[in-house]
Amino acid sequence: MIALFDSGVGGLSVFKELYQLAPYEDYIYYADNANCPYGEKSVEFIRERAGEIARILISEGADIIVVACNTATAAAIDYLREKFDIGFIGMEPAIKPAALSSESKVVGVLATAGTFRGRLYRQTSGKYAQDVTIIEKVGEGLVELVENGKTDYENAGDAVMKCVAPMTAMGADRIVLGCTHYPFLEDVIRKCAPGVSIINPAPAVARHTVEVLDSAGYRFKDGKTGDTGSLKLLSSGDNRILERMAGALYRAHK
Ligand code: DGL
Repeated sequence: MIALFDSGVGGLSVFKELYQLAPYEDYIYYADNANCPYGEKSVEFIRERAGEIARILISEGADIIVVACNTATAAAIDYLREKFDIGFIGMEPAIKPAALSSESKVVGVLATAGTFRGRLYRQTSGKYAQDVTIIEKVGEGLVELVENGKTDYENAGDAVMKCVAPMTAMGADRIVLGCTHYPFLEDVIRKCAPGVSIINPAPAVARHTVEVLDSAGYRFKDGKTGDTGSLKLLSSGDNRILERMAGALYRAHK
């Protein structure tokens, strides 16, 4: 069973990619929406939550846990790997593909404050900072918009514009989505930053998860023996939005 967790519904953007690669698997998804957003929370708090969620997912039968949250990856991935005897896949800030493909050599990164503070992000951005100008913006209010299902231009346009206008003004031709909630705003971002390529790390993280499982000898279900696959949803708060968004992405194979 493949497990994923996030502060809320954002990690569904990773689930969506994984589900395309492995549609007959059993999945379990935990949204810590009672504590969402994680962006401004302390590292200690996020570690404690991540530990508790990992315990729940392992007791539910997880074979691997995808930390489908950049902020939780930044705060807790080392801690989780040390504490539990199971594989963890974290989110990677996709600065490398953005920096290498950028023609203007100006790259915008949209993430939470917690992700920008993390060691992984600082190391990756430091590596490319000589060749490209990196413009960092905290996506103020964007996670809340996604959690409330307000992902259309009408509702989210102003908040998104505030984040991306300074990037396009500086000539950015790539915007990295450094938070798993943001792919749900991709259409709005595209409208606010026309012509800019949006880089979403979720497909690469999903591919990596499948590779890691594969090389560990995990037997993927292929639907041939009547496996229909399943998705179990857990949350620490009201899970109506989780059920609605997951339902729109998921169809059990009959
Ligand atoms: N989706 C998360 C991330 O990737 C968490 C955002 C938040 O809760 O602030 O960073």
